[in-house]
Amino acid sequence: MTRIVVLISGRGSNMQAIVKACQSGDINATVVSVISNRPDAAGLTFAKENHIHTAVCDHTEFANRDDFDGELAKLIKQAEPDWIVLAGFIRILGAELVQQFVGRMINIHPSLLPKYPGLNTHERALAAHDDEHGASVHFVTAELDAGPVIEQVSVPILEGDTPDSLAARVLAKEHGLLVKAVKRCVTGDVQFTPSTAV
Ligand code: GAR
Repeated sequence: MTRIVVLISGRGSNMQAIVKACQSGDINATVVSVISNRPDAAGLTFAKENHIHTAVCDHTEFANRDDFDGELAKLIKQAEPDWIVLAGFIRILGAELVQQFVGRMINIHPSLLPKYPGLNTHERALAAHDDEHGASVHFVTAELDAGPVIEQVSVPILEGDTPDSLAARVLAKEHGLLVKAVKRCVTGDVQFTPSTAV
C-alpha cells in the first residue's frame, strides 16, 4: 500500500480530506504519519482520533534551521513514505531537506502560482484587484512555491470580498483539489521532471 506522510501546522482540514479519501478508497493509499511543527496544531487531534501516528517537530526548540530540518527529515524517513504532502505546513524547508525528497514531496498553496508565492496570498490578490484567485498543488523544490504545478483551481473574487471571505472560498475548493492531485501522484499519472509536472 502506498504510504503518505502529511505535514501540517494548524487546523489540518486539507490533511483531513486526504485521510478521508484514503479511508473511503478514493485514494489507494494510507496516511501513515501526520507531523506538525506546532505542538498545539488542531489537526493532530483528528489524526490521533483516526489512529494515525503523529509526531511533533517544534521549530521553536531548535537553535537553527538546519537542526530543525535534520530532525524533520529523520521523522519523515522513519515513516517510510512514498509521498510527503505539505498540507498547510507553514515553514520554509531548506534545500538539503527538499533534495532528499524531491519528486515525491508536494505542497498545496493558496494562490494561482506563479502568482503570489509566500504569505498573505488572499490579501495580495485583493490588493492587486484580481478578478480571480485560487489554489495550486505543486511539487516542492528548493525555491519557495516554485516547483512544477500539478493541479490548480480558481474561484472568482467578488465585490466586497475580505481576505477571510476569499480564503474561505478558496479553502472550500482546496480539499477536492488536493485529493485529485494526490490521487494522480499515487497512480503514477503525474511525475516530477524539473521543468513540468505533466
Ligand atoms: C490552506 O489554505 C493552505 O493552502 C495554506 O494554509 C491553509 C491550511 O489550512 N497553505 C499555505 O499557505 C502554504 N504556504 P488547513 O490547515 O485547514 O489545511
